[in-house]
Amino acid sequence: MPDKKSHIPWAKPDFWGNEIQYVSEALASTWISGGAYLDKLEKQFSETFQKKYALAVSNGTTAIHLAYLGLGLKPGDEIIVPGFAFMAAANIALHMGLKPVFAEVDKDTWCLSARELPKYISSKTKAIVPIHTYGNVCEMDAIMKVADAHKIPVIEDCAESLFSKYKGKYSGTFGKINTFSFQATKTITTGEGGLVVTDSDELNEKMMLYRSHGMRRKDKFYWHELPGHNFRLTNMQAALGVAQLEKIDFILSERKRVYEEYKKHIANQEDVVLQKIEKDVDPVIWAVALKLNSKTFPQGRDKVIEQLRETGIETRPGFYASSLLKIYQQHSLPVCEDISKNVISLPSFPSLKNDDIVFICEQLLKLKNR
Ligand SMILES: Cc1ncc(COP(=O)(O)O)c(C=O)c1O
Repeated sequence: MPDKKSHIPWAKPDFWGNEIQYVSEALASTWISGGAYLDKLEKQFSETFQKKYALAVSNGTTAIHLAYLGLGLKPGDEIIVPGFAFMAAANIALHMGLKPVFAEVDKDTWCLSARELPKYISSKTKAIVPIHTYGNVCEMDAIMKVADAHKIPVIEDCAESLFSKYKGKYSGTFGKINTFSFQATKTITTGEGGLVVTDSDELNEKMMLYRSHGMRRKDKFYWHELPGHNFRLTNMQAALGVAQLEKIDFILSERKRVYEEYKKHIANQEDVVLQKIEKDVDPVIWAVALKLNSKTFPQGRDKVIEQLRETGIETRPGFYASSLLKIYQQHSLPVCEDISKNVISLPSFPSLKNDDIVFICEQLLKLKNR
């Protein structure tokens, strides 16, 4: 095998089917802002996730924002989020004057730990936001048990776990409101985009208003019932999503192939440990991530990223733990910090070839003790 390949990106959106045709049709229809593709995308999500309502929005961050607004969260309220994850849920909390309280994650699954959860709950806790990191799914039974005992609503952030399952049910079917992202690297993409699902009439009503200026256009133009945002997805973007969903079985099988191929070449060993997937979880891995043993990789994770880049391989570090980021100024979370410093995620997109995966694994393992 050569030591240098042409560039292997960390992620790449793939268009497998009718994307160009449907986007052109959306344009030709002149329904740009609302339209038939939006209706179709929402219908497909509400049917697939068996939720009464699905609302397409402009991205996964506005999806979370909408969920907080739907729940009526107010300045001073607390939400619990994992201290190791992509921080959109925490950032929107800060924007709304809420306090994100960061919780420890499980040292092996890297997801919110139900065992740890009770110690972060206070009388001000108004939502728990499990984040299904890298496509793994949090231990939802145990999390729901804690949340239900305290009557706290759960918002699942499924940005990274579209179509991953826990005990045979999709992530995004457990919480009161659940959010998705269709950003370019995600399992399906609409360019930028997102969506929320819920069974609640009341929450749907409120989120629909907040999504679009607080107006109900059909009844009364320009009548603002509440100070809404513009969080709408366009019909053209929804057209992309509908085309991607037509190919979803293929996309998922390719993602599974990529993950299985990595597992073949990086079987769990002491030096590199893959994110643990519990037996209850059937994951659609969004990003194959592993933890480097700091003794075997004395150069450190960031140097490994640099060394891989020299061979044409683009990787990403683990998310920075909340306690390492100045903007949050919170308690230290040793497990999150350890994961954060040693995790690396590898190229994981569905059209990644098996021989590229072999090359990536060889190059990574060559960096031991270097
Ligand atoms: C877990 C998680 N939540 C939320 C988001 C935000 O989604 P978006 O980029 O679509 O706003 C992301 C990343 O994109 C994410 O990984």
